[in-house]
Parts: sequence; structure tokens; C-alpha cells
Amino acid sequence: MPPRSILAGIGAYLPQRIVSNDELARTVDTTDAWIRERTGIQQRHFAAPHETAVFMATESARAALADAGAQASDVDGIIVATSTPDQAFPATAVRVQAALGATKGFGFDLAAACAGFVYGLSVADCMIKCGQAKGVLVIGSEVYSRILNWADRGTCVLFGDGAGAVFLRAGEGAGSDRGILSTHLHAQGTLGDILYVDGAVGQPDKPGHLVMHGKEVFRHAVTRLAEAVQEALAANHLTAADIDWLVPHQANRRIIDAMGRKLGLPIDRVVITVDRHANTSAASVPLALHDAWKDGRIKRGDLVLLEALGGGLVWGSALVRM
Ligand code: COA
Repeated sequence: MPPRSILAGIGAYLPQRIVSNDELARTVDTTDAWIRERTGIQQRHFAAPHETAVFMATESARAALADAGAQASDVDGIIVATSTPDQAFPATAVRVQAALGATKGFGFDLAAACAGFVYGLSVADCMIKCGQAKGVLVIGSEVYSRILNWADRGTCVLFGDGAGAVFLRAGEGAGSDRGILSTHLHAQGTLGDILYVDGAVGQPDKPGHLVMHGKEVFRHAVTRLAEAVQEALAANHLTAADIDWLVPHQANRRIIDAMGRKLGLPIDRVVITVDRHANTSAASVPLALHDAWKDGRIKRGDLVLLEALGGGLVWGSALVRM
């Protein structure tokens, strides 16, 4: 029986600077009321110059290792999900490896936008199951404030910065029901033009800003995420009533509520941080998981369903027994 990937520790990092909707409305043509009503967002954290993807990923990784009672020497793989790396290469993950003082195994970045953390969990789980790694850090770290178009009020009010990490440890296999029970990943590249960044280092004079067709994304998000949740439940012969906590991608309170209604899940079993963090892309799911783990809502033994969707479109789920 292949080993299970146990979520041994969870960590997070949020930039010190908190920006309220009212503060944003001083420079953007918007209002606190519009943002709250359409998205549920009340504030977001914005990174200072030193709070880069590497810096925040490293801090969240340190916290995850401490939570697991693990050392840098226990790490033999690092996967960082990010769309906002410090450099095209080396990967954020190897900079994190060096900063932690870890010396074994592999490190690479993964580009799957807001679904990046769920994608990373799936890849790490496969590597643990096939025996290639025993202790893997999966991190989502994003500084979207650097790629927002401040002239587009339809997008710049929606995002924030931050990082979240989990430390996965190969479990004993037989005798333990803890760990990642399933992951399911999807992509539909034909929808690549409804949410994208219009440039990158490979394009001359185009650093890139985020572009989104909000209504289209909203429509696909509700449908695809509800499907992803049903897929995970069916694959594990479960119903929504068996799930202790849903930890959804934190893009918009209305998407989260619509999904909860579709599934018949009471909202008090859904972790919500979008009000305080806004959309932190690949960091949003581990930040939300950390929030409910740290304050004791999510406990050892709980069945937790994670899901996310992002530009691509890419989406997926992970079912975890904590
Ligand atoms: N402040 C004030 N008004 C704003 C605004 C802002 N920040 N942004 C847009 N508006 C205005 C528009 O100009 C428009 O005005 P008009 O009717 O006079 O033309 C009006 O509000 C409605 O705009 P619209 O874009 O149709 O709003 P919406 O109801 O679709 O809500 C989103 C916009 C972005 C909140 C919504 O589409 C959404 O949540 N989409 C999904 C986003 C998402 O989750 N993306 C990430 C997935 S990973």
C-alpha cells in the first residue's frame, strides 16, 4: 500500500500593510459599499517592497515546519505555486530551499494561477505515493498587487498578497486514515482569454497586467467548482453531509455562497477569509486552511475538502483527512 501524504503542518504569512476599501477608494474610482456588496471583501494585505514571493513563501514554510515539529533537514521537496515570482528563474522554490537551509531533493514552481495550491498538493501527493519524496513543502505565494491594473476598477479591488504553506509527510500507510484521500485536476485552455495576464518576461516591453471578464469567470467558477466538489464526493463514496469543512478558493463571497447553496452545505461549515484577505490567488486556499486550523475550527481527524479555480481555466479539488 503506498504511503499517505499527511498534512503534518500548516503555516501562513500576510504582509503587514492592511488596506481597507475606503483607503483604496481614495485612489480608485470605487466605494466600500460596491466592493462589499459585489464581493464580500472588506480589506486586503499589500506587500512592501521586501515582501516578495520568495520572502513570503519562506516565512510561511518556516511556520508550516514549526507547526509540524519538523526541521529543514526533513524537507526533500519544495513546490511553490505562484504567478508572481521574484525571477523567471531560479524557481521561487529553490530560493526558499536555500533560505530554509534545506539541502535534499527537488524544488520547482508551478503555474496554475488560483488553482496552483491544489495542483501542487496533487503533484506532491503523487511524488510521495510513488516513493520519490518523504517530506514535501507545498506553498502558494503571491504578490498580485504588482500585476494589477490600477486603472481597471473592475479587477484592482479584488486581489491581495500573501502566502500559505503545508508540510506533507509520508504517513505509515496501513493503520492510519489521515492524509490526502483524493485529488482531481482539470483544465480548459479554450477559456484562456477570460482571465489572464497580458504579458511576461518573455514578451518585449510587456511586464503584464491582470485582465478579467468578471461575469464569464463568475459563471464558470460556480459551475466548475460545484462539479469538482461532486466529483470528489462521488470518488470517495461520500455526500456533502460527510464533509466537516469546505475550504474554497477565496475569490468572491457570492461565488462561495452560490456553491454552498448548490451543494446544500450550511455556511457555518465553509471557511471564509475573502473578507479579510481578498483574492490571494494560489495563496488563498492555504491561507484559509491555516486560519481555521490555527483558531481550532478544523481539528485532527476532520474531513476537509479544498477546491480552487483560476485563469486557464484550471480547477481542481483535494479531499484531506486532517
Ligand atoms: N467600484 C464601483 N463600480 C464598479 C467597480 C468598482 N470597483 N467595478 C465595476 N464597477 C461598475 C461597472 O463599471 C459597471 O457599471 P455600469 O453598469 O455603469 O457599466 C457596474 O459596476 C457593474 O459592473 P460588472 O462588471 O457588470 O459587475 P459584476 O456584477 O459582474 O461584478 C465582479 C464584478 C468582478 C465582482 C464579478 O464579475 C465577479 O466577482 N467575477 C468573478 C471574479 C473572480 O472571482 N475572479 C477570480 C477567479 S480566480
